[in-house]
Amino acid sequence: MKSSLFITFILFFTTVSAVKEYLFKKCSQSGFCHRNRHFAQAVESDPEYQSPYSIDVSSLSFADDSITGIVKKVHGLVDVDFPFKISVIEGNFRFQLDEKLNSDVVDTVKHVNKQRYNETETFAFKQNVAYHPLTGDQLEDKLVLKYGDDHQVELEFYPIRFSFLYQNKVQLTVNDKQFLNLEHRRKEREGSTSELLSQETSFDMFQDSFADSSKDTLPLGPESMAIDFNFINFTHVYGIPEHADSLLLKHTRSKDKEPYRLYNVDIFEYDLDSRLAMYGSIPFLLGIKSEVTVGVYWINSADTYIDIEYSSSNTLSHWMSENGLLDFIIIIEPTPYDANSQYGKISGNAALPALFSLGYHQCRWNYNDQKDVLEVHKKFDTYKIPYDTIWLDIEYTDEKKYFTWKKEAFPNPGKMMQKLDQTGRNLVVIIDPHLKDGYSVSEEFITKKLVMKDNSNQAFYGHCWPGKSVWIDTTNPDATPAWAGHFAWKSPFLAQAANVHIWNDMNEPSVFSGPETVAPKDNIHFNNWEHRSVHNLYGMSYHQATYNAMKARLKHSNRQRPFVLTRSYFTGSQRTAAMWTGDNMSKWSYLQASIPMVLTHNIVNMPFSGADVGGFFGDPSSELLTRWYQTGLFYPFFRGHAHIDSPRREPWVPGEPYTSIIRDAIKLRYVLLPVFYTGFYHASETGRPVMKPMFYDALDDTNTYKIDDQFMVGDSGILAKPITEKGGNVSSIYIPQGQIYYDFFNGEISSQVFTSGYVERPVELTDIPMLLKGGSIIPLKTRYRRSSKLMKNDPYTLVIALDENGQAKGDLYIDDGESFSYQNGEKSYIGFQAVSEGISASVSVSEEFSRQIESVTVEKIVIVGVKGEISAVIIEQEGKKWNGKVSEKDSVTTIKNPKVKINSDWEIKFEYKQGVDHDEL
Ligand SMILES: *[C@@H]1O[C@H](CO)[C@@H](O)[C@H](O)[C@H]1NC(C)=O
Ligand SMILES: *[C@@H]1O[C@H](CO)[C@@H](O)[C@H](O)[C@H]1NC(C)=O
Ligand SMILES: *[C@@H]1O[C@H](CO)[C@@H](O)[C@H](O)[C@H]1NC(C)=O
Ligand SMILES: *[C@@H]1O[C@H](CO)[C@@H](O)[C@H](O)[C@H]1NC(C)=O
Repeated sequence: MKSSLFITFILFFTTVSAVKEYLFKKCSQSGFCHRNRHFAQAVESDPEYQSPYSIDVSSLSFADDSITGIVKKVHGLVDVDFPFKISVIEGNFRFQLDEKLNSDVVDTVKHVNKQRYNETETFAFKQNVAYHPLTGDQLEDKLVLKYGDDHQVELEFYPIRFSFLYQNKVQLTVNDKQFLNLEHRRKEREGSTSELLSQETSFDMFQDSFADSSKDTLPLGPESMAIDFNFINFTHVYGIPEHADSLLLKHTRSKDKEPYRLYNVDIFEYDLDSRLAMYGSIPFLLGIKSEVTVGVYWINSADTYIDIEYSSSNTLSHWMSENGLLDFIIIIEPTPYDANSQYGKISGNAALPALFSLGYHQCRWNYNDQKDVLEVHKKFDTYKIPYDTIWLDIEYTDEKKYFTWKKEAFPNPGKMMQKLDQTGRNLVVIIDPHLKDGYSVSEEFITKKLVMKDNSNQAFYGHCWPGKSVWIDTTNPDATPAWAGHFAWKSPFLAQAANVHIWNDMNEPSVFSGPETVAPKDNIHFNNWEHRSVHNLYGMSYHQATYNAMKARLKHSNRQRPFVLTRSYFTGSQRTAAMWTGDNMSKWSYLQASIPMVLTHNIVNMPFSGADVGGFFGDPSSELLTRWYQTGLFYPFFRGHAHIDSPRREPWVPGEPYTSIIRDAIKLRYVLLPVFYTGFYHASETGRPVMKPMFYDALDDTNTYKIDDQFMVGDSGILAKPITEKGGNVSSIYIPQGQIYYDFFNGEISSQVFTSGYVERPVELTDIPMLLKGGSIIPLKTRYRRSSKLMKNDPYTLVIALDENGQAKGDLYIDDGESFSYQNGEKSYIGFQAVSEGISASVSVSEEFSRQIESVTVEKIVIVGVKGEISAVIIEQEGKKWNGKVSEKDSVTTIKNPKVKINSDWEIKFEYKQGVDHDEL
């Protein structure tokens, strides 16, 4: 929504256009990052380097599902032991390493938990992940471990080095460069420098010299963990959001470049082309090449930096985390789809969203009052623009006390919600994790000891929207039921309405008075863990608590799926929330950058993502706003939003011709809703992307590896490349080698075919460049309705683009769109197939759900790529046969109202005009 430094921002609005870089640590200002980069350089430049780390062979112990042992670090006169474990989690090798604590070293430390934090997985993983047996041999100098026929890891004892093999070929080595650096716990200051190895530096070991965070007391001293991963014969790596950067990650391993940083901060007006930390973190890195995909999944929720180094054949990544365990999972699979699926088995897949949340969302900071909300609501109907949800930012509250309404402005919120509900519309209200001091809710959480504490173990107070505030500690399991109490069905706040959902903002957590705009690292959480250890998962713990509270609340209605939007997130967030890219600028460059950002989230299984349409700060030109809608309609999460100082920019504000063009863009989103919902169904089942990079389906065409301005919509075959340049009058789309596409500009199919290479054509402001891949069948709903809910029984249109062999297939997923009854089988999955003899639908549906969709039909089928001319069609369903109407114009064949129902199998047989031969099935 907005920035912590809003006030500063206003003052400098005209002169400053970039992020306040000085607020955020560079690697060289961050003790552990600086030390690890120094260490890596020292190791690399020393050909005689002798690693102090070895695997103690006598410590190895074999069990069915794991191998344990000790990594020894020889350090001056003392040896430090690091117990480790190797296991196979959901079919992927996992390595975990902890430090055996030397009690007299950390005895003096008060308040904080002295263990290394080991609960990241408790939040990051789905429940009940399975561990599998592994087999192995201990050789003289290494372990050789196998899982299944394809996966193998070799672990050399000295120097320590892992080789991960897939089908007997090494794909990834770990610690090949010997960047392993485990900063063991040591006594504060005394003797610390004399204890250093020659490769180490004492830079900021026991103090933090960064200007703003001088108060970080570093009670446990240096405790970072770092290691290198080398992708063998890979030259393209992706993932590790959130950064305002290209899809393909950049080379960072050099003095003048910053590594990618994962540290959730309230960065506003962020810079483009940047490796700086942003609001969320997903520590999953993917290497892609034609035959294999390798994923490194790093289980650590502390401040983390990642250096990337491309060389002619390999790609090195150097991971450095401030504290916690050294814990990683290696995923090696044939394709990125398989890697996404494996990751999903551990971290969980995206929740299947309520259908309404895939419609258009209208937001601004702020709609002023009840009347304002209902006027905007009404204008959508006046202008015949569909929308599903209107949003309220912080100003709806009574003095930023969440769970209250500003009475003068919202005298009767329940009535407002009812009014919205009449046309299937929803409301989203914001609830942040800071709780105003002196308010009954903050007092309740302080009394129950459910707030974040400062480094002296007292409730932590800081500044945020309400002024002086405390922060709920949702890492404490007791916080969730207490939080849920405030969302109870009977509590007056949400007026027993089922069409209200929640937006969680500022959950990095943003603290205006805090270092780097967030909570101090030496704050203390549940179980005395330092904030340092849990920082990157705090935001997720918070939106999960909200999701669980909403789920409990909505049990009292028939619309049970909660919608929660979060700004901060971590691996695992996909199970309970959607995210948006935060506070963007109304500039063309930000519109362009939004596409790679959303694609990156889709690559790491966080598909429900989007950017503020129009940009958050500033006043977009009518052209930019229009182009942003034409892009935003493809974001999995599609919301218009604006800063409190930006002029109004609802779709009717720019006037004609813009309003009509924006209307067309939003309507196109609604036409495509069945495609998006089916895409999300696959994401929720197997982790497949909803907005998908080109290379997923073109791994043999490396030209696609860098493309991040065009993309596919799920597996539908729709390719889009919105115009994102000012005055853009040419569309240039790259078609991967060996693929064929049909013209599908603006969602209108034509028989014009394009093949490999760049396709250029002139475009107008009204144009949304789209193609449809040969071999696809897509289901659409083309009638204008005010909201997605009102489209429920609308008939479908099928668009069929045949491939060179005259074949195509596609699918459609349907359920009630709002409850969890799909989990009990109340759903329908339809596979469509077309061959030269005709089209068929194969329906799998429960009896109960079949009755619910009885009245839904297919009203039109449009086919391109037909060889010859179809003269008649014979339709068959449920034992009945009838003739359909078929016509052809400009090589587009249309079957008008075939009258087939969607809830059971059907078949349409083609008869051709004579003179054309057709192959058998
Ligand atoms: C973390 O370590 C503690 C102490 O050894 C142990 O009791 C707990 O089960 C561990 N938690 C996880 C998630 O492994
Ligand atoms: C590296 O990858 C390229 C392209 O995928 C392939 O042609 C080559 O054989 C690979 N080299 C090795 C050493 O695996
Ligand atoms: C927001 O701005 C950043 C650049 O600071 C850009 O990379 C990113 O893509 C933008 N996001 C959106 C959604 O516009
Ligand atoms: C597009 O605009 C540019 C610059 O205004 C112009 O030179 C060019 O001829 C235009 N191209 C088309 C296809 O209209």
